[in-house]
Amino acid sequence: MNLVLMGLPGAGKGTQAERIVEHYSIPHISTGDMFRAAIKDGTDLGLKAKSFMDQGELVPDEVTVGIVKERLAKPDCENGFLLDGFPRTIAQAEQLESILQELRRPLSHVIHIDVDKSQLMERLTGRRICKVCGATYHKVFNPPEVEGICDRCGGELYQRADDAEETVKNRLEVNVKQMQPLLDFYKERNLLDSINGEQDIQDVFGDVQQLLGGSR
Ligand code: AP5
Repeated sequence: MNLVLMGLPGAGKGTQAERIVEHYSIPHISTGDMFRAAIKDGTDLGLKAKSFMDQGELVPDEVTVGIVKERLAKPDCENGFLLDGFPRTIAQAEQLESILQELRRPLSHVIHIDVDKSQLMERLTGRRICKVCGATYHKVFNPPEVEGICDRCGGELYQRADDAEETVKNRLEVNVKQMQPLLDFYKERNLLDSINGEQDIQDVFGDVQQLLGGSR
């Protein structure tokens, strides 16, 4: 099961990815998470990505494609993978296509989590993430049992730097521009399924399961 999860910032990609990778036992490849880890570790990749992320801009394709190519070649991707937040431009989608051809691992589904742009500011500014295990919460829509503490591991919750209102505005603008051409790209290849992301989190996952079936 070789999957791509698409959606505007805040559509619920990370939230659904947590459930999909657990249910189908496939690795979760999130370019955003990879960049954040690199920034935390102070690597060259982190230095390259930080200024773009801080502004809510996309990290250049040549940087992004390189890290995905390296990651997809790892043995744990042989039985499937979930790409989250990649591709985000047509150039990335074209390069992904040739990487997967080389690896002989064609995509099985591209799942688009569809949420109207008007809902995303509230979702993003209210998001909180566990510092330890990365689980995602929302102050109103998906609160932890104890404020500020992760239900799963007891870790402290924090707000992502790019979830500040001004940065969110730019992220949404940048991503809205890129989205339609990408949806068309995968529609032409008969790979695209859109899911209503405006339902409860569990109902969105129910639709994903219906689409993918019970097992990998
Ligand atoms: P990335 O980390 O990928 O962020 P993003 O695409 O902006 O998406 P988010 O992680 O913000 O949102 P999400 O869809 O995962 O939503 P979530 O599930 O958390 O990228 C960050 C940056 O890295 C980019 O801006 C760019 O600079 C760079 N980058 C990454 N990939 C790149 C690429 N390919 N090319 C170039 N640059 C790249 O949910 C959001 C909130 O809503 C949560 O609080 C959640 O609890 C809540 N929620 C989720 N589902 C529901 C629901 N159904 N109902 C109510 N609330 C919900």
